[in-house]
Amino acid sequence: AGAVPFHGEHQAGIVTPAQDRLHFVAFDVITKDRARLAELLEEWSAAAARMTSGRDAGVLGAVGGMPEAPPDDTGEALGLPPSQLTLTIGFGPTLFRDADGRDRFGLADRRPAALAELPKFPGDALQPQLSGGDLCVQACANDPQVAVHAIRNLARLGMGVVSVRWSQLGFGRTSSTSRDQATARNLFGFKDGTANLKAEDTDLLRDQLWVQPGDGPDWMAGGSYLVTRKIRMLVETWDRTSLAEQEEIVGRAKGSGAPLGRSDEFDEPDFAARGADGKPVIAEHAHVALAHPSRNSGAQLLRRGYNFVDGSDGLGRLDAGLFFIAYQRDPRRQFVPIQTQLARHDVMNEYLRHVSSGVFACPPGVRDGGDYWGRGLF
Ligand code: HEM
Repeated sequence: AGAVPFHGEHQAGIVTPAQDRLHFVAFDVITKDRARLAELLEEWSAAAARMTSGRDAGVLGAVGGMPEAPPDDTGEALGLPPSQLTLTIGFGPTLFRDADGRDRFGLADRRPAALAELPKFPGDALQPQLSGGDLCVQACANDPQVAVHAIRNLARLGMGVVSVRWSQLGFGRTSSTSRDQATARNLFGFKDGTANLKAEDTDLLRDQLWVQPGDGPDWMAGGSYLVTRKIRMLVETWDRTSLAEQEEIVGRAKGSGAPLGRSDEFDEPDFAARGADGKPVIAEHAHVALAHPSRNSGAQLLRRGYNFVDGSDGLGRLDAGLFFIAYQRDPRRQFVPIQTQLARHDVMNEYLRHVSSGVFACPPGVRDGGDYWGRGLF
């Protein structure tokens, strides 16, 4: 139930041990006024520092203000502990140049090359109204009410400056981001996050996660790039697939999570091993084979996704899936090549639909009370 520090070198909510709940939101900026936008980021940072420590969004709070005025906190988190709330901000490519080519805030020359729009992948069924955004905020917490409260209050503070473009609730983390955490399962019933980048892998995090000085514009050093994909999982079809076929598609055992042919979850997969029939024990087109660093020039991701069930789709099926979240140093060398492999060859695609996509530059951490989200950019 404790608090995760908001201030620091890097933003919280990236290597922070993945909490159980997510409320993710993407905003469009509706003001034309650059100073007003920077001012909102300052207001948001102050509110975020307060809420992540378990306090009201504003100084007066839900019930401490004048009875004649709307309260500066909405109240539904009163009395709840911080619940490991983290708030992580990202800037989308359209903040720098919008779909019509306009540089609304004079930021175009500050856009990092790594913040490129993602290419269209084979099979993409993206819904534009559920994709993209000028800004995003990822709220993670161990209590869904605390995560929703935080996003709601940021949206309230942003009235007239930003408007909510889309948002997504998630439950049941599908990744571990720390070696202390047991691996959770996704809605296909498989352990997810076994071979993830973890908080303890300091050298790998430097190489694969954190933007280094010299990678691009200085304002991003110490930050990371975020890719989101809302992936509908056709669970009813999956549930009619045999256990052996499910395991072949993933390349791991459903029970233990071990790579096929090995016994422990954390054993290295042996892609050269052949069975008695002469076939590879892990199929060449298994998900873990296609996504493995050895097939992607060493590229790795810090995955931090959540399950979702948005009710049902009116056709007798659950509207369920994975809200995929991955952080990395450069999507052009990490997410894009891996997803290109998966989109072309992964047999799992028969059971998946990518319906939403986003890419965001997450700046470094807010250092202290005098600093704010994205200050280096403005
Ligand atoms: C590994 C499931 C989408 C990248 C895994 C594993 C499972 C899994 C069960 C094995 C356990 C683990 O190491 O975490 C899924 C499901 C997906 C999905 C159900 C869609 C709903 C994606 C996407 C990407 C991706 C879109 C990136 C483009 C990876 C990577 C690994 C992995 C990098 C680790 C491979 C390794 O190094 O062994 N996934 N995944 N996955 N997945 Fe996915």
